[in-house]
Amino acid sequence: MRVLRRVHHMVRLAQKVRLAGQTIGLVPTMGALHEGHLSLIRAARRENDVVVVSVFVNPRQFGPTEDFARYPRDLRRDLRLASSEGTDVVFAPEASEMYPKGFCTSVEVEGLSSRLEGAMRPGHFRGVTTVVAMLFHAVQPTRAYFGQKDYQQAVIIRRMVEDLRLLVRVRVLPTIREPDGLAMSSRNAYLSRVERREAGVLFRALTSAEDAIHDGERDPQRLRRRISRLIQQQPRVRAQEIAIVDAGTLEPVKTLTGRVAMLVSARVGRMRLIDNLLVDVT
Ligand code: PAF
Repeated sequence: MRVLRRVHHMVRLAQKVRLAGQTIGLVPTMGALHEGHLSLIRAARRENDVVVVSVFVNPRQFGPTEDFARYPRDLRRDLRLASSEGTDVVFAPEASEMYPKGFCTSVEVEGLSSRLEGAMRPGHFRGVTTVVAMLFHAVQPTRAYFGQKDYQQAVIIRRMVEDLRLLVRVRVLPTIREPDGLAMSSRNAYLSRVERREAGVLFRALTSAEDAIHDGERDPQRLRRRISRLIQQQPRVRAQEIAIVDAGTLEPVKTLTGRVAMLVSARVGRMRLIDNLLVDVT
């Protein structure tokens, strides 16, 4: 497995691979790899000739009061895990390599980026789309792999790819969960034992709403109240947003029909966790 730290080395290698007619699968990450990332690497391994995992904690997607400095970093462990899944290349640039002095360009998907998570974290998705566009340029992937856990991110990246006619296929794969349903996330490691136990309510609340939909509930307000009531039963979990939206446009729905996304974000202790479920309503 090769480890590249410079953008131009990555570009050169990607060009060689693509000129040889081979496909590249890219798994963009901020490191702290867990089973969710590994499932994306396995899919990339199955579907492509060459697998590239990027490891870059992107400062531009953290707000001034967010956990950039505290975000877990352990490149040696990430390299070991990436290699054990058959990764060919880890692209791990420094921030000064990605954003040299004078860098002043950003890529923004308007509208979608200022809703939901974007309203609570101004500039977050601009940071994500800017770095993902740069990674797409450096790695020239045939396919890029993202987890459904970051559902809004996935919708925004698909939109960016469509709008800019980028020649990459965006693959969004199911959320990988702990046995109690908690969505895997690098931030889970920072929960205390009690917080960790209580955090399982997010998935339970979402599945309870899903059950209600299957039993005929079509009123988003009642579903939101149901999710909120369940979350409130856990003293260390504070819901920040509960949204029931059209899965494509992320617009709130008045009555449930078609594919809907139920999204929750909550503070659990000092951490902010997100989760979602997609439901096809007939
Ligand atoms: O989902 C993430 O880990 C990040 O937002 C991504 C896509 C790697 C961009 O920094």
